[in-house]
Amino acid sequence: MFPSRAAAAAAAAAPALGRLNHVGIATPSIDRSVARYRDLLGATVVREPFDLPSQGVRVCFIDLANSQIELVEPLGPDSPVARYLERHPGGGQHHVCFEVPDILAARDHLVAGGATVLMGGEPRIGAHGVPTIFVHPRDMGGVLIELMAEPGH
Ligand code: CO
Repeated sequence: MFPSRAAAAAAAAAPALGRLNHVGIATPSIDRSVARYRDLLGATVVREPFDLPSQGVRVCFIDLANSQIELVEPLGPDSPVARYLERHPGGGQHHVCFEVPDILAARDHLVAGGATVLMGGEPRIGAHGVPTIFVHPRDMGGVLIELMAEPGH
């Protein structure tokens, strides 16, 4: 019996998974979310929000000791985050982002294993200025996974 495509890919060593870079939180209002994290949770380092038109979102990072929170607000009705907010109007946990040493090797391994890499599988420059990809939640136990090249490389 021939091994399945997924089993064959799993047999090849997966490229290394790096550190948790951030947790993405979708919100209808970055301002209201920042107030919650600052005033209720005690966040002290809130970065300046900025637009990321390539992904249809406005982004605000909150620094933690060991990671970041990425607040994402839709830039318009066609934003993927706008569709998320239709299902979760108050906002919610949207994605988890890990760093990887080689984004193309990670992408190729995922595709070989049968996973769907969004946006045609082509890495796009993300909020940290490095290439990122997103893996479909149906392949990741219901979690939208973002992988990003390690910053500073
Ligand atoms: Co992100």
